[in-house]
Amino acid sequence: MPKKYDTPLLDELEKGPFPSFVTEIKKAAAKNDMAADELGQLEKSYRDRRGYWKHGGIVGVRGYGGGVIGRYSSLPEQFPNVANFHTVRINSTSAFFYTSKFINEMCDIWDKYGSGLTNMHGSTGDLVLLGTNTENLEPIFAEFSSRGWDLGGSGSALRTPSCCVGPARCEWSNIDTLDINYSITQEWQDEMHRPAFPYKFKFKTAGCAVDCIASIARADCSIIGTWKGKIAVDQNEVAAYAKNGMNIQEEIVNMCPSKCMSYADGKLSIKDEDCIRCMHCIAKMTKALKPTGEKGATILIGSKAPFVIGATLSWVIVPFMKMEPPYDEFKDLIRKMWEFWDEHGKNRERIGELIIRKGMREFLEFIGVEPQPQQVKEPRRDPFFFWTEADLQK
Ligand code: HEM
Ligand code: HEM
Ligand code: SF4
Ligand code: SF4
Repeated sequence: MPKKYDTPLLDELEKGPFPSFVTEIKKAAAKNDMAADELGQLEKSYRDRRGYWKHGGIVGVRGYGGGVIGRYSSLPEQFPNVANFHTVRINSTSAFFYTSKFINEMCDIWDKYGSGLTNMHGSTGDLVLLGTNTENLEPIFAEFSSRGWDLGGSGSALRTPSCCVGPARCEWSNIDTLDINYSITQEWQDEMHRPAFPYKFKFKTAGCAVDCIASIARADCSIIGTWKGKIAVDQNEVAAYAKNGMNIQEEIVNMCPSKCMSYADGKLSIKDEDCIRCMHCIAKMTKALKPTGEKGATILIGSKAPFVIGATLSWVIVPFMKMEPPYDEFKDLIRKMWEFWDEHGKNRERIGELIIRKGMREFLEFIGVEPQPQQVKEPRRDPFFFWTEADLQK
């Protein structure tokens, strides 16, 4: 029987109207010693108003440099079952589709060797197994890899790529997000498992600018599906929206960021050449509007949330790229970016910070991409965009 701790402070966190992680840890603690001690140590932390986890150390499985995040308790005598309590990252599937067979087997393995606590999914997108000890790491890895499952990325490596549900369930996807995600994962296994970068690097792929996966804020490289043709308008459906109470002028036309829409005599018209494909109107009037023409993706780079300069969104490097297997053009571009980062990046400097430090001009020159107006909002006023003498003569 696992030890039972009194947890008056944690119990408070079960009283709200929301699901509580305390309830979940208690369930696991009823049958698992690690989860029980985790709860005990957490209660003590709350009581003493300080954390009792030591700074993480290096820990892993044979042949891998990443995938396991080392954690150690600073009170190992008092809480021996969490003396070491490492986090295991499992490479998630594209858009998190699992079979129930997988979930069952995964939970059985984790009940046997770990705390029983999982996190589906972590902020990086991995399937996270929370808390096991050092000696169980190899058996866990052996069990997982025998079924063809692999560890995710951690440390200064490529992190587990992730994507929106895309064409599997969503009609707005301009690209096959699932296939792109899978292809990136297969191509760069080594970069994911053996940290060799200055710092972490994340890919996130969204099928359209609604960006359900928040790639623009969460990925060093954001891949966002877009289109080249017009937005097809079904005027009957527009009329139906109006009839059902939508204020088309206010909710659609006035909200268009590029002011390229108008609405008169019950007809909606769009000046497609000015549309920036933000998806606002389409997401609001899914039945009436639809992108047409060539499909591809915008490639953006550099989002991160470092302490010093604060959160930064990715910005456009390539406004439009065809995205078809085997994605050679895209992969070649990424290799050039990594080369630049490898050559100039400082330890723990994200690629976006490096671009700010070195300047967008030098970056674009290195990766062989022509400067284009879409890359920055106000090219001649952007402080990060430096012009050569030759540019100024033009
Ligand atoms: C010294 C103690 C600890 C430190 C310094 C620490 C630090 C971190 C950091 C830096 C991340 C990465 C965040 C990100 O990339 O979004 C992380 C992720 C995480 N940590 Fe901890 N942590 C500690 C202990 C723990 C403990 C004790 C638990 C659970 C009981 C835990 C659960 C998690 C989870 C669930 C994630 C998300 C994993 C993912 O997104 O892949 N951590 N932690
Ligand atoms: C009232 C208390 C708390 C609030 C309001 C809170 C709020 C949050 C929020 C807003 C996030 C970000 C979720 C996201 O990325 O979408 C987060 C993440 C996280 N929190 Fe809390 N939190 C609380 C307590 C705790 C406690 C006590 C723990 C650990 C025992 C914890 C562990 C974590 C971890 C590990 C993550 C990262 C999860 C992930 O990567 O998916 N939180 N929390
Ligand atoms: S980002 Fe776009 S394509 Fe992906 S799920 Fe959301 S709406 Fe659909
Ligand atoms: S997609 Fe955005 S920019 Fe284009 S017409 Fe609709 S609201 Fe305007």
